[in-house]
Amino acid sequence: MGKIKTKYVCQECGYISLKWMGKCSECNSWQSFVEEFVEKNRKDSVISTTISQKPTKLKNIKIETENRFSTSNGELDRVLGGGIVRGSLVLVGGDPGIGKSTLLIQVANNIGDLGLKVLYVSGEESLKQIKMRADRLDIDNENLYIVSENNLQFISKYIEEINPNLLIIDSIQTVYNPNITSAPGSVSQVREGTATLMKLSKSLGIATFIVGHVTKTGSIAGPKVLEHMVDTVLYFEGEKHNVYRVLRAVKNRFGSTNEIGIFEMTNNGLEEVLNPSHLFLAHRSKQTAGSVVVSSIEGTRPVLIEIQALISPTNFGTPRRMATGIDYNRVVMLMAVLEKKVGLQLQAQDGYINVVGGIQLGEPAVDLAIVAAIASSFRNKIIDNQTIIFGEVGLTGEVRTVSYAEKRITEAVKMGFKTCVIPKGNLSGLGEVKDIEIIGVENVYEALDIILGGKSIG
Ligand code: TYD
Ligand code: MG
Repeated sequence: MGKIKTKYVCQECGYISLKWMGKCSECNSWQSFVEEFVEKNRKDSVISTTISQKPTKLKNIKIETENRFSTSNGELDRVLGGGIVRGSLVLVGGDPGIGKSTLLIQVANNIGDLGLKVLYVSGEESLKQIKMRADRLDIDNENLYIVSENNLQFISKYIEEINPNLLIIDSIQTVYNPNITSAPGSVSQVREGTATLMKLSKSLGIATFIVGHVTKTGSIAGPKVLEHMVDTVLYFEGEKHNVYRVLRAVKNRFGSTNEIGIFEMTNNGLEEVLNPSHLFLAHRSKQTAGSVVVSSIEGTRPVLIEIQALISPTNFGTPRRMATGIDYNRVVMLMAVLEKKVGLQLQAQDGYINVVGGIQLGEPAVDLAIVAAIASSFRNKIIDNQTIIFGEVGLTGEVRTVSYAEKRITEAVKMGFKTCVIPKGNLSGLGEVKDIEIIGVENVYEALDIILGGKSIG
């Protein structure tokens, strides 16, 4: 067999070069060349006459129910949209040390318990290291096959030999095809590896989990380049020093996105957190200014989360604004609304906003809570700790309606809250909600008037 030829293709403009170049001579973009195979016998100009598939009428297409199996892990199942789909490719991204290998070996064990075969390919750890982790997690499963290998050709051979129901590749950054000269972890290797595994898993009907590291520096190819190739993308988030981990679906061809699963890292591996509101409010500060609880919808589930704000005078220069767990620009905008529409003098104040528990909040329904926390800290006025708040804030200071109001309120009732401040527009759509006082507000001024008391604003 002759040597397989490769070429370098500019990812910006498609320019082809035989050698790697730092700068594309065609479109002048930097670092845009990626190594690709030269495909022989490709006749692009000749249309194949042996058409394998004819266009079908939409009404004639039959939907087969997806063939799913449960991971016996409720949180993961929900994030996946109800279990693993056969033949699907799932990318699990996250910082090193966050717990990806731990989660996947636990899943492998659960699947093995169902009597299904699992192949765990690790390019990062030796068999001994994997065994040590398995012992720690008390895993000793008949149906679990482990191999420590990086070479894609060998890996493909093992997959075909064992033909598992579930395949785990830990991690895609360590897998390489010897025919490509780039180092493992480079864009071309990562893409080539994923493409090969995809072909295999689709043709053999193997559900595949691929681990991908995200690096802050971006020096090795993060899973970003793979996101469009795979069916599902899960991100494992969390502070390394915090025991809580959030598994988030950012793309899912077989379920809804933005669903989250919450886990706790314990001495016995990752455990599911069944009542997240309880967890996020566990260490809540009692009756201090600058703290408020919001009811936020994460995926399909309402979660109560504390939002904290600290407003303090700027010592010199421009005021600082900092946001953890929430979009920075949103915070800046809400502070501007408070200045202009409510008359809070925040121009010479530093503002720090924190979402407690290391979770990321993306929905605008948390706006009103952020505004309330800021005003509370600035005025040094306590918000009653039996009150929850939610609503979207517009640029004119109006409080806009949000979705799933009833779900949010029900969660608050469950957790024993007594008062709920919500957008006025949501009042009409509510069913019967008991055991909680509900106050509808039209604008930020009115909301703060109720939450903090009249004299403290303006
Ligand atoms: P790991 O799954 O190796 O992370 P990743 O594959 O994402 O790089 O887990 C890393 C951390 O988890 C490590 O610091 C040790 C800790 N850990 C526990 O706290 N409990 C356990 O039972 C296990 C197996 C690991
Ligand atoms: Mg690992």
